[in-house]
Amino acid sequence: MTAEVLRLERIRKSFGSVNALKNASMTLKEGEVVALVGDNGAGKSTLIKAISGVHPIDGGEIFMHGRKVAITSARDAIDLGIETIHQDTSLAPDLSIARNLFLGREPVKLSFLGVLAPLDFTELRSSASALLKRVGISKKLDADATVNTLSGGERQSIAISRAMQFAAKVIILDEPTNNLGVEETHGVLRFVKEVRAAGHTVLFITHNIHHVFEVADRIIVMRRGEIVAERTVADTDLLTVESLIMGADMSKLLRDKQVH
Ligand SMILES: Nc1ncnc2c1ncn2[C@@H]1O[C@H](COP(=O)(O)OP(=O)(O)OP(=O)(O)O)[C@@H](O)[C@H]1O
Ligand SMILES: [Mg+2]
Repeated sequence: MTAEVLRLERIRKSFGSVNALKNASMTLKEGEVVALVGDNGAGKSTLIKAISGVHPIDGGEIFMHGRKVAITSARDAIDLGIETIHQDTSLAPDLSIARNLFLGREPVKLSFLGVLAPLDFTELRSSASALLKRVGISKKLDADATVNTLSGGERQSIAISRAMQFAAKVIILDEPTNNLGVEETHGVLRFVKEVRAAGHTVLFITHNIHHVFEVADRIIVMRRGEIVAERTVADTDLLTVESLIMGADMSKLLRDKQVH
């Protein structure tokens, strides 16, 4: 039995009269990649914002390693080991790769009398190079290059490396392959597999069902604020997941259309 990492129980969230989350419950286990899928407006981003401390929840409970926790800010989530990566917004484009990898947690030198001294750039650069090497992107990237010189896929890899670096237990990716080319997309998917191999848990939001089948172990389907289905990838197929996303009425409609 694989250990449970994060458990959500009956999470509720409304925006005015819109019930964005209605009793959403899910469990993420150690070292698995879970794809969170659903149509536009299903509540996927709201759910990950609840986990990452962006929106306070109206009701329900969150457990980390079986212990009940309160996540009321982004800091709370990070301190619990939950890192969320939003496309294009997670990195500072004008800073170097090395600075970005350690942003907010840069190594500082302790001076005589224990006063904090300015950033230790030598240490920062060598830690960054070691990290880039560990995640297998050392050949291509120079730790001193600024992030705005990188492609979308490389930026995603840096953002994910950053999360790995801080030993995040759970890494949440909100549509990480959006706007990426074919090769870059495959780079990110490969990287997600490496993150899993290193023992992290990944929650991956995507609209691309093919990507789901390429990297995920498990699929969670949301519809109108509810979690309506969960399947292991091994036990389902693309058409089934598509109809679960659309709902029975819509998929019947499409089937009928094909018949006539
Ligand atoms: N800040 C907000 N204020 C008001 N309503 C919101 C807010 N955020 C989300 N909603 C509403 O909550 C519902 C769920 O939105 P959410 O962004 O979670 O959907 P989603 O599944 O991520 O969709 P998409 O695939 O389009 O990104 C929608 O009806 C949306 O309009
Ligand atoms: Mg969304």
